[in-house]
Amino acid sequence: MKKLTFTAFVAFCTFIATVLALSVLVPERVVADHDKLPAISADELAEHDHEASCWMAIEGKVYDLTDYLPLHPTPLSIMLPWCGREATEGMRTKGYGRDHSPAAWAMLDDYLVGTYADE
Ligand code: HEM
Repeated sequence: MKKLTFTAFVAFCTFIATVLALSVLVPERVVADHDKLPAISADELAEHDHEASCWMAIEGKVYDLTDYLPLHPTPLSIMLPWCGREATEGMRTKGYGRDHSPAAWAMLDDYLVGTYADE
């Protein structure tokens, strides 16, 4: 019985130690503070209308999607025309009337660089 109690105690301590270690080691997700994001004008947005720097304004926020362009599951020619401009329609319709999945919308967070000043 004593052995069982001891084993349970060790298991409990190991569990607590693991939880503590994870909370220290796993970095907290960086949540952008939207109030501190720069406001980006339509003129500034328009400068990023190419493959080497592709920004899009989508529902009031501006995203730098340059790194995502080669990862998007279509030829580059599908996303490129939306770079440097208000692209909510592109995101909502994919160019043929069908919205992106919630997973695709969630990916946007990683590319957020500002709010859209022209909204
Ligand atoms: C705004 C311009 C965009 C256009 C015109 C566009 C268009 C498309 C098209 C035609 C497809 C393939 C067909 C289909 O799945 O139905 C697709 C799929 C996809 N796109 Fe886009 N896309 C755009 C922006 C984005 C952005 C900014 C992201 C994410 C950061 C994204 C993420 C995805 C993902 C994950 C898929 C796979 C299907 C899904 O999850 O909906 N796209 N997109």
